[in-house]
Amino acid sequence: MTMQDKQAWSGRFNEPVAELVKRYTASVDFDKRLALFDIQGSLAHAQMLAACEIINAQDLKDIQRGMAQIENEILCGDFDWQIDLEDVHLNIERRLTVLVGDAGKRLHTGRSRNDQVATDVRLYLRHAIDELILLVHALQSALLDLAQHHTHTIMPGFTHLQVAQPVSFAHHLMAYFEMLKRDAERLADCRKRVNRLPLGAAALAGTSYPIKREYVAELLDFDGVCENSLDAVSDRDFAIEFAAAGSLIMTHLSRLSEELILWMSPRFGFIDIADRFCTGSSIMPQKKNPDVPELVRGKTGRVNGNLVALLTLMKGQPLAYNKDNQEDKEPLFDTVDTLTQTLRIYADMMGGITVKPEAMRHAALQGYATATDLADYLVKKGLPFRDAHEAVALAVRFAVERNCDLCDLKIEELRQFSALIADDIYAVLTLEGSLAARNHTGGTAPQQVEAAIARARKSLA
Ligand code: ARG
Repeated sequence: MTMQDKQAWSGRFNEPVAELVKRYTASVDFDKRLALFDIQGSLAHAQMLAACEIINAQDLKDIQRGMAQIENEILCGDFDWQIDLEDVHLNIERRLTVLVGDAGKRLHTGRSRNDQVATDVRLYLRHAIDELILLVHALQSALLDLAQHHTHTIMPGFTHLQVAQPVSFAHHLMAYFEMLKRDAERLADCRKRVNRLPLGAAALAGTSYPIKREYVAELLDFDGVCENSLDAVSDRDFAIEFAAAGSLIMTHLSRLSEELILWMSPRFGFIDIADRFCTGSSIMPQKKNPDVPELVRGKTGRVNGNLVALLTLMKGQPLAYNKDNQEDKEPLFDTVDTLTQTLRIYADMMGGITVKPEAMRHAALQGYATATDLADYLVKKGLPFRDAHEAVALAVRFAVERNCDLCDLKIEELRQFSALIADDIYAVLTLEGSLAARNHTGGTAPQQVEAAIARARKSLA
């Protein structure tokens, strides 16, 4: 075997690795996605090696020149990725050596692929998190754009999917704004733990060269170094945390999707979703299906699966690095890709929603949504809440038997249930009255929701 064909580690082996094993253990097909981060990490490492006089200035220059060419080849799609070279790290290192000779062979001084790959994944994830936070914000902003027109659009609020109390459509949308706000916070918080440098941990125990880890951390914009070398190369909790944050984002969007699907069904008829986000049926000409929300709901399953995959790959590993960790990449990439596409499409889709206030209002008027308001009215006139609850329950039963709403009952009819009821009850029983009464932070009164929207806009600015 010539040096060119040999594996970087094959010196101690008596026979070449079996073809099937080579394919089974190689990761280049998917980890080449880390290439630019791998180069970024290598350049910082080389710069530190030169600063610490572990390699000389000429070596550093050669490495920089070689890496610039490699980066160019990768970006142009000209780089010849070889499965025989196992992974992204060895592919790039071998090419560097072909291009610049001994300097390329010196790059790996004081480093292992174990700390190298942990660094690459962290650089990749940090970048992904930054992009995802922007996408979450864009979706939040789309929600605000829709909400601001609907602080007076009244729909039934549900519990148990039964009509509960009236709320504004804006208030309902703002609930999702809050969820997404926490999602963005979770990503930002997770980023703090992602943003630590493993390099310098080498294989597991550190290195005998006089390196300066803090300098590399600074060059790569990390907040600091991983403090324990064994931990640095072995744990992927930062990726698991990210995957969990991703699962929550998808869970929130899955819930919103479920609502959009319900609302678009003719039984509800609360909204319409623009044609460009829907598809038809090949057999039923009348169909317009909300495919995008359905797929979001479905894709939540794969993102949750990725989280479970990462948790499971970690749970049985003794310290320190094990090849199991190579399995962290595909679930991680898939979660990032799914989130990226989902958030993008969702922000556009929210801009393509037509609201049907009449249908919402009609539904809110049907389910005795203001019954609690009647109870509250009686309480304010001195009746204990439990007695008020009982009186209103009887009134609702009476109205159900007559197939009408509470506000359709005559004053004498209402007064059978409590003598405290007077003419001023009708204002209380309107949907508008019900909303206006919930006038405190977090309530559905239009002025509160307007204030919430204004605060939300400010928080995004
Ligand atoms: N491709 C490997 C991974 O993704 C790189 C690290 C390999 N290290 C080793 N000692 N075999 O985890």
